[in-house]
Amino acid sequence: MILDVALSRLDPVRRFGSGRAVAVIDVIRATTTIAIALHHGCAGVIPVQTLKEARGLALRLGGGGLLAGERGAAKAPGFELGNSPAEYGRDRVEGKTVVLTTTNGTRAFRAVEGARVIIATAFLNASAAARWLTRAGLDVLIVCAGQHGRFCLEDAVGGGMLIDRLLNVAGRPVELGDAARAAHQLFVAHRDDLFGMLHSCEWGRHLIQKGFGSDLEICARVDLTDVVPVMRAGHLVAERA
Ligand code: MLT
Repeated sequence: MILDVALSRLDPVRRFGSGRAVAVIDVIRATTTIAIALHHGCAGVIPVQTLKEARGLALRLGGGGLLAGERGAAKAPGFELGNSPAEYGRDRVEGKTVVLTTTNGTRAFRAVEGARVIIATAFLNASAAARWLTRAGLDVLIVCAGQHGRFCLEDAVGGGMLIDRLLNVAGRPVELGDAARAAHQLFVAHRDDLFGMLHSCEWGRHLIQKGFGSDLEICARVDLTDVVPVMRAGHLVAERA
């Protein structure tokens, strides 16, 4: 199994992702929020790029849809939900289809369109994602959403955690690319204090400043769920591993 990491969504992910299973990571907060929504019985999450696209799609879904998204961390104006995982309780999302737009995370899904399979992962479902990917039996590209096309620490550490889990369950030889080795080393360096890492990284500090510090507690939870969000016909839906 070949295992590599794109440290930002602006890496040439289409080229390297084709024929592979792609795992998108935006630990703070989009892929954490997506996994929490599906864990709580949401019917599916449609990741979209723009506010306009999200509004149009949610309108077409009518009562079965929820319009969700953030810009600069805050809930987008007029939207029903922001990007705080705490907002995605069972009472709010069960049976609904969430149309979600975020600054970096949902754009990363657009960047990897055309991959054989696409899943969403974060700390909270890393072991489940590793089992799911192992069963899929494909080479893997982990795509870090990053910040405006730049590297960000928490996504690289998340990628490293997934690599760590994959190395444990793969059951066959694994070949790591250079970026995968670097991400794994970052995970090893931070594995004993993921919470502290989320508090000290750039976006974590921004969220604390904006009053969303409590979200970091959810983002730091490891293996909270066995739900793996898998892209099926444009919707991320819950599969279990
Ligand atoms: C993103 O997509 O950039 C993030 O999920 C932003 C956020 O924390 O809301």
